[in-house]
Amino acid sequence: MLHPEFPLKTARLRLRPQTMEDLEWQYDLRHLPEVFRYLPFGGESRDDLVEVMEKRVKMTHWTEEGGSVMLIAEEIYSGARVGEVCLFSDKQVQETGEIGYILHPDYQGKGYAAEAAREMLRLGFDDANLHRIVAKCNAENKASLHVMLKLGMRQEGIARSASFDNDEWCDLLTCAMLESEWKAQQAKQATT
Ligand SMILES: CC(C)(COP(=O)(O)OP(=O)(O)OC[C@H]1O[C@@H](n2cnc3c(N)ncnc32)[C@H](O)[C@@H]1OP(=O)(O)O)[C@@H](O)C(=O)NCCC(=O)NCCS
Repeated sequence: MLHPEFPLKTARLRLRPQTMEDLEWQYDLRHLPEVFRYLPFGGESRDDLVEVMEKRVKMTHWTEEGGSVMLIAEEIYSGARVGEVCLFSDKQVQETGEIGYILHPDYQGKGYAAEAAREMLRLGFDDANLHRIVAKCNAENKASLHVMLKLGMRQEGIARSASFDNDEWCDLLTCAMLESEWKAQQAKQATT
């Protein structure tokens, strides 16, 4: 079960649920080729995106069966939307979740992806009591891998030809963190 109180806050970001007012911003983001170069979705029509958004506005909590939390990240000082971040439960494996993140190119390179994703790890481990959280990316997506490693996740392996990104089969890389590793990281940070 997970019922976060929104907005969540990090040092520089406010994380809040998506609304239908984010539709145009999402439409623009999802038509930037550099954003969806390594992803299996993007480029939707406005009608299709309305359907996507209608589901996303409800992704704010988990029930006992699990669920998804899909949030917009805004810069606190400017109020600008910088990207989106998510945490969802694995339906097959109990106490396991997955995080994801997308940053608008105007706001990349500032450490925002790692900052927002770290809050998803906190939500998963501290609030949802997960045992293990994974993040997956196209094996060519060096920026995403760097974010995962920066978070302290460990690279576990590469599934060959496992994601259909941009009309071609691509290798899919997985990194993971265990609750014990998260707690050790938090304890270490508290003493430095
Ligand atoms: C992946 C993504 C979120 C990273 O965003 P970002 O704003 O660059 O992330 P951060 O600034 O938090 O950290 C990125 C780190 O990767 C490094 N990096 C960026 N591009 C890199 C590259 N091509 N190769 C290696 N490292 C790279 C940066 O230097 C930074 O590391 P540092 O803080 O140690 O200097 C962004 O590139 C993005 O949105 N891409 C498109 C969507 C996407 O692929 N999402 C991930 C899906 S799995």
